[in-house]
Amino acid sequence: MRVLVADHPLIAHKLTVLRDKNTPSPVFRQLTEELVTLLAYEATRQVRVEPVNIETPVTSTVGTGLVKPTPLVVPILRAGLGMLEGMTRLLPTAEVGFLGMARNEETLEAITYAERLPEDLTGRQVYVLDPMLATGGTLIEAFKFLFDRGAADITCICLLAAPEGLAKLEAVHGARDNVHVVLASIDEGLNEKSYIVPGLGDAGDRLYGVVD
Ligand code: URA
Repeated sequence: MRVLVADHPLIAHKLTVLRDKNTPSPVFRQLTEELVTLLAYEATRQVRVEPVNIETPVTSTVGTGLVKPTPLVVPILRAGLGMLEGMTRLLPTAEVGFLGMARNEETLEAITYAERLPEDLTGRQVYVLDPMLATGGTLIEAFKFLFDRGAADITCICLLAAPEGLAKLEAVHGARDNVHVVLASIDEGLNEKSYIVPGLGDAGDRLYGVVD
């Protein structure tokens, strides 16, 4: 498993505004999209390409095209949905599947409550979108789901991670060279409610408001 913390002043700046509790939802949504587009640039470094022959107005040349099957983008509902637009802006030909996962706030275990994905993911490069890698439970479940369907490799884009969650993911997927995590920051840790500290609060609530 490879972890990349994207190091760029614009990412750090946008993340700071995102963390601020006074940043309103519309700004939070806009900044999330912008951050994901910047992170996606790093996350897609290994996207599979092939040579393609084209004609420019001047001559024939060999360029670069995305290989089929096209990459699959999988936002983890609900908060991952706020990252989708920023991702597809960079990868407009990607297909999109959905995984609905929530954590039981008492046991902190991840449960899958919805799924809309191709049955067969053999050979597919998959980009998972989940803003907060906290305990790691959701991503461990999500990765298992996707590998069970045949995914060739998985790159997860997160805004923030806690060292505890990364360590848990590493314990399960550490030996794999086909798992990548791209992040804007690794924070200090988790608090007693498993929120990331300093974090940005509940990403779903800050994107979409509180739904109980
Ligand atoms: N999920 C969130 O939305 N925020 C956290 O801090 C942890 C998990």
